[in-house]
Amino acid sequence: MIQTVRGTRDILPEEIPLWLRVEEVAREAFRRYGFREIRTPIFEKTELFARGVGQATDIVHKEMYTFIDRAREDREGESLSLRPENTAPVVRAYIQHRMYAEKSLGELTRLYYIGPMFRRERPQAGRYRQFYQVGAEVLGPSDDPLIEAEVIEMLDWFLKELKITNTTLSINSVGDPRLRAEYLEKLRSAIRPHLQNLCPECRERYQTNALRVFDCKIETCRPVIETLPTILDSIDEASREHFEDFKRHLDARGIAYTINPRMVRGLDYYTRTAFEITGDSNLGAQNQIVGGGRYDGLSETLGGPPTRGFGFAFGLDRMVMLLPDAEQERVRQAAAPDVFIVFLGEAARDQAFKAAREMRSAGIAVLLELEERKLKKAMATAAKSGARFALIIGQDEIEQGKYRLKNLQSEEQQLLELAEVIKTCSII
Ligand code: HAM
Repeated sequence: MIQTVRGTRDILPEEIPLWLRVEEVAREAFRRYGFREIRTPIFEKTELFARGVGQATDIVHKEMYTFIDRAREDREGESLSLRPENTAPVVRAYIQHRMYAEKSLGELTRLYYIGPMFRRERPQAGRYRQFYQVGAEVLGPSDDPLIEAEVIEMLDWFLKELKITNTTLSINSVGDPRLRAEYLEKLRSAIRPHLQNLCPECRERYQTNALRVFDCKIETCRPVIETLPTILDSIDEASREHFEDFKRHLDARGIAYTINPRMVRGLDYYTRTAFEITGDSNLGAQNQIVGGGRYDGLSETLGGPPTRGFGFAFGLDRMVMLLPDAEQERVRQAAAPDVFIVFLGEAARDQAFKAAREMRSAGIAVLLELEERKLKKAMATAAKSGARFALIIGQDEIEQGKYRLKNLQSEEQQLLELAEVIKTCSII
């Protein structure tokens, strides 16, 4: 039997209502805060991620699905990659379509996306090779920390609306990368005496991009990382003021946070504000649900005009896992059919399909089986379907021109004409 590829999975129909609910609340949050949707391709030129996310990051260096496209007579095959994230593609689109010149909605361009991303990580619960992100990016000339606080306020509303509590917002500032040389020197000097105790990858990171040592998840490297000078202690004055302002805006909104001076995030484009939201133990080790930050200068790196940017993405797979049981139950219930029609006798069959047709055109979700069943069996199927009502059509009912509508929760029954059935079933 052919099965799904390791690290990928089918999202089955029982799960879909939960996914749709998270997406629906996300879209509502984006609508309220002025974000418009963008859909970019699933694959892009490898160079976009190498330049945008950074060649030395794990994501680009180890985890990308890269392939050489077929050559044409006049051209060599080019290197393409499945997108491991969507900030670089969105900034590419912003530049390519000159969105910076389009000012009809004001100076800021607010974009959001929902879709699959691909990273060749070791699969675990909550960690997949094809996973889904919901993300948002604010692009434009301003780096006002108010933008950041407002985006986090939106996330706060979103989590509350989904009844997700027990999350922690961690923030940090990684300063201005152009003024990072002195810190990097200090960091390398601090790492040097411990090189023997670090994993081979950290030793490599020490050579290529020392900041990435903070990304290491290997237990034996942790004690060394704990002793290293933090980036927050070394940021430039302007970045420090920016961070203070950002915190003030969060305080003003009553949004709680902790400062994590060792959080550098695993992508090279971040400048100044970086943040993560983690969930509770439900997710095990994969408890980082939201990640984001500022990335002034990414546009320039990709050949675009000077642009400031701030955004985030969350893992849809992980967000769905965080939905509390009661909320999952409510959402699944709401997705069940409204009515299950039970018919008894051949004559009732046509009547049942006719009633179904009329009810459906009135907007009611109706389920019925093709063949007649024994009443008991049919009622058991109706109950299992999760439908709110069973509509029973038998010989008696046809003769009377009325139908028996049973509320499957209260067990109450009524004999009603079809118009009344439709009215009753339409009330939520
Ligand atoms: P990221 O932290 O790499 O950031 O990913 C964001 C979120 O995607 C994570 O917090 C996690 O929930 C989810 N995620 C990542 N990898 C996996 C995986 N293998 N399986 C399941 N879920 C996963 C970014 O991607 C940045 N582009 C975010 C951003 C937008 N920064 C600024 N704008």
